[in-house]
Amino acid sequence: MPKVSLARLESRIAALARFGALPGGGVTRPCWSPQHEEARAWLLGELRAAGLETWVDPAGNVFGALGLRAFTAQQPVVLTGSHIDTVPEGGILDGALGVLAGLECLHVVNEAGLPHRRPLAVAAWSDEEGRYGSLFGSRAFCGRLDAGAIPTMASVEGERLVEVMARAGFDALLAPRAQAPPGAVAAYVELHIEQGPRLEEAGIPIGIVEAIVGVRRTRLVFRGQADHAGTTPMARRRDAFLGAADYALQARELVVRRGSASSVTNVGVVQVHPGVSNIVPARAELVHEMREPDPDILARLADECAALARRVADGRGLALEIVPTSATSPAPCAPRVQAAIEAACSELGLRAQRLHSAAGHDAQNLAAVTDAGMVFIPSRGGRSHRVDEMSDADAIERGATVLLQTLLSLAR
Ligand code: GLV
Ligand code: MN
Ligand code: MN
Repeated sequence: MPKVSLARLESRIAALARFGALPGGGVTRPCWSPQHEEARAWLLGELRAAGLETWVDPAGNVFGALGLRAFTAQQPVVLTGSHIDTVPEGGILDGALGVLAGLECLHVVNEAGLPHRRPLAVAAWSDEEGRYGSLFGSRAFCGRLDAGAIPTMASVEGERLVEVMARAGFDALLAPRAQAPPGAVAAYVELHIEQGPRLEEAGIPIGIVEAIVGVRRTRLVFRGQADHAGTTPMARRRDAFLGAADYALQARELVVRRGSASSVTNVGVVQVHPGVSNIVPARAELVHEMREPDPDILARLADECAALARRVADGRGLALEIVPTSATSPAPCAPRVQAAIEAACSELGLRAQRLHSAAGHDAQNLAAVTDAGMVFIPSRGGRSHRVDEMSDADAIERGATVLLQTLLSLAR
């Protein structure tokens, strides 16, 4: 049975972790940043050194391939991959594992001359973490990018995508040209850390993803009245921050009470204006995110939260603006890919558990154009999107081995 090299994979994980490394561990490597662009150049070098054909598309997606120079319907490819961008103060495995394990699999196939009827390729998708727009690169590749929205896409700090891409040497307006021809991808399988506690708690080494949650993000802007924070009597204040805070607490209750056992909610962005201690806040903006695998429940929760926000604003004499900023639909994984992962696990004598992904992934875009699936390995303590995110070395080796077997069986 062909074997991946854990030592080579681990040394590449350590090498990639140096780009954007933080003094206390972990990494900050947003897409298009200088750190990300250095990581891209390093990755291209590693792909080439492994004997792969490489290219970068107009959306900044990086590819390494065996038996392929460009995507065509005539030569459907079995594709793997993930992303090399990270959240701020993130870990070294989210995304990196899927890209580097994919590279390791193709390296082994090339070195050992393993037969594969279909071409094989590995992708590093741009801006998976959605600093400028969620799952940007895979959306472009799958023809799901709204070209008209590109000029106004920006980070929460207001940095425009067009500008950051230009600094990295890309023309954002050309990103839709990254769309692959229909039929160019025969199947997609992505290895990722679970980022939650389910596999570790169950003592099961491999997760087979059945579906990926849908995510709704909404910006809520509460507007009140700026006033002197010392002299204005309490009863006369129209404090925008209190509307936002009240909403955040009640929305959490609503989602827990009215959602499914899988529904989750988060307010991770709050901005108060003018933002000084001696002025009653005139404006408070928050970004509310919700996730849920059932599309009907997700849509109902979104409606109920919007109604809640209006009640809260009315009750406090505030104006309210509700701006949906992104909405991804829950994506089922293909039974054929799930079966291939399951067969690989039984061949390797590894127990596997079916589960849904509570994180968003590029695989959800690929699922719209091909048979797509995902392999999960346990995350230590269920920790992710934090600097101490980690998985055990044997978990990484098992995941990469399952990925290799699955790719070979899909390419057979
Ligand atoms: C991706 O990391 C997500 O936010 O789900
Ligand atoms: Mn992530
Ligand atoms: Mn990820």
